[in-house]
Amino acid sequence: MGDVFMVASGKGGVGKTTLCAMFGSQFARMDKTVVMLDTDFGLRNLDLYFHLENKIIYNLVDVLKGVCSYRQALLPLDSNRTFYIMPGSRNYDFSLPEDAFSCLIEKLKAQFDIVLIDTPAGITPIHQAMFPYVDQALVVVTMSQASLADALSFCHVLQKQGLPARLIFNQMGPDMAKRRNRSRLQEMARHAFHAEYLGSLPDMHKKCAMPSDFLTRGKEILPICRTILMPAKETE
Ligand SMILES: Nc1ncnc2c1ncn2[C@@H]1O[C@H](COP(=O)(O)OP(=O)(O)OP(=O)(O)O)[C@@H](O)[C@H]1O
Ligand SMILES: [Mg+2]
Repeated sequence: MGDVFMVASGKGGVGKTTLCAMFGSQFARMDKTVVMLDTDFGLRNLDLYFHLENKIIYNLVDVLKGVCSYRQALLPLDSNRTFYIMPGSRNYDFSLPEDAFSCLIEKLKAQFDIVLIDTPAGITPIHQAMFPYVDQALVVVTMSQASLADALSFCHVLQKQGLPARLIFNQMGPDMAKRRNRSRLQEMARHAFHAEYLGSLPDMHKKCAMPSDFLTRGKEILPICRTILMPAKETE
């Protein structure tokens, strides 16, 4: 059975969707079978990273409402047919059957090694609906005060759910590469967030003009993906 990873943050615009697309692409390069779900209903944009915006017929909400089968909403992203996306909807609508996610996630876990879920900002009913099926929450945070504060609140919610929180620091400045600063982030993750430090990603805006450019940054994302595949460490 596959593992379910939720990409979340608290604050919006910190890089959840970008990292979800990068993780998915990197796991696929590591020969994992991967499906990505876009649960940012009403504001989907994971599909933009793969230039699929004009190819979408069915979406995740159609599956949850029983309008189509889950297979009909899966769009392949590679020629081997091991990497798929199930796009989100363009309309916000959360009047979904209560057990809808459970049936879908069970089917996806049986078919794929990794189920990656891109989530909206905040702590929403979508998160609450997904928590029972999540193996790990990958919390994206930047160094802005608001992002740190919101990530902290999100980690508290995870801890109440009994879920391990694993932090990724995104859009970091050049100083991040220094070993001393990495140790500081590890300490901050452990002591302030009671979470595990997964790694940091630099600000790549000079290298990535288009969303799809992020998918080529294997060098930056590979160490984090390797750590994600290792069991979560106990935090104090
Ligand atoms: N490491 C990075 N370097 C440079 N730009 C980045 C990086 N990560 C994300 N971005 C940029 O930040 C912006 C927001 O990213 P993204 O849409 O992934 O955030 P999000 O958390 O999914 O937002 P939302 O909460 O609205 O869903 C995008 O323009 C993206 O290109
Ligand atoms: Mg997003």
